[in-house]
Amino acid sequence: MISLIEAHGVRIPAVGLGTWELRGRDCARLVEQAVRLGYRHFDTAQLYGNEREVGEGVRASGIAREEVFVVTKVAPENLAPGALLRSVRDSVRQLRLGEIDLLLLHWPNREVPLEDTIGALVGAKRDGLVRQIGVSNYTVALLEKADRLAEHRLVCNQIEMHPYLDQSKVVAACRALDMAVVAYSPIARGGAKHDAVLERIGRAHGKSAAQVSLRYLVQQRIGVIPRTTKVERLAENIDIFDFELSETEMAEIRTLARPDGRIVDWDWSPQWD
Ligand SMILES: NC(=O)c1ccc[n+]([C@@H]2O[C@H](COP(=O)([O-])OP(=O)(O)OC[C@H]3O[C@@H](n4cnc5c(N)ncnc54)[C@H](OP(=O)(O)O)[C@@H]3O)[C@@H](O)[C@H]2O)c1
Repeated sequence: MISLIEAHGVRIPAVGLGTWELRGRDCARLVEQAVRLGYRHFDTAQLYGNEREVGEGVRASGIAREEVFVVTKVAPENLAPGALLRSVRDSVRQLRLGEIDLLLLHWPNREVPLEDTIGALVGAKRDGLVRQIGVSNYTVALLEKADRLAEHRLVCNQIEMHPYLDQSKVVAACRALDMAVVAYSPIARGGAKHDAVLERIGRAHGKSAAQVSLRYLVQQRIGVIPRTTKVERLAENIDIFDFELSETEMAEIRTLARPDGRIVDWDWSPQWD
């Protein structure tokens, strides 16, 4: 049984499957397999080019539509109002799952006024294309501005988060706005899997370093969307609800954060907190 994280009355399964770089039949098969193993949250994006396959995998699993929570993200080049609505209609067509559960703005884009983008995002909800709306890669300043502009609640900020990156400022801002935080790259793109501290802590619980990295986040009420191409790891990454990290272990993991811990950074990234 997967726990849920809640914000504004919206319940998001705490573990989801990240699907960046999963393609074609392999992607659809992995999603279908993940549903069988208990995953109820799937993360895709217009930029990943796999919305069709994610939808196919969910449908092939035979699970009832309302049992799964499907997230997609609007590409930064689609943030002007007309383009946003057109692109979301296309996402709905690709996924073929009816209304999208959560639509996020993938990255901020300085070239398009936030007022326009947020207005169009709210429009996608009003038009019944999506159930909930939110953002990704938003900083404290951007979150506060977006929240002021939105007439419907923004329920989530999806951000890079793992033991090597201190995101306490943006997490505090999300909590103040009652927004859920979902961590991408939650095992540091695989970088956490041979970490000596995480391995040692994991041994005490009969778990792997990757599982400790995921549990560390979930225990702070942060959702995680690990990605894997391997079925055995699908099972491993969701098997994190039968142990608890102590306060001392949580504190030790917190010390792993370092100034250069960020992995995902681009020219168009905002000024990080
Ligand atoms: N909003 C955004 O801007 C944004 C940015 C980046 C990512 N994301 C989302 O977040 C998802 C996850 O992030 P990510 O893909 O960057 O990184 P991640 O999930 O932290 O790491 C994925 C890597 O870890 C390996 N791995 C997975 N489970 C493992 C395990 N139990 N033991 C050892 N290695 C394991 C995978 O290799 P194998 O395939 O060999 O298992 C893969 O190389 C993405 O797929 C995407 O959906 C969003």
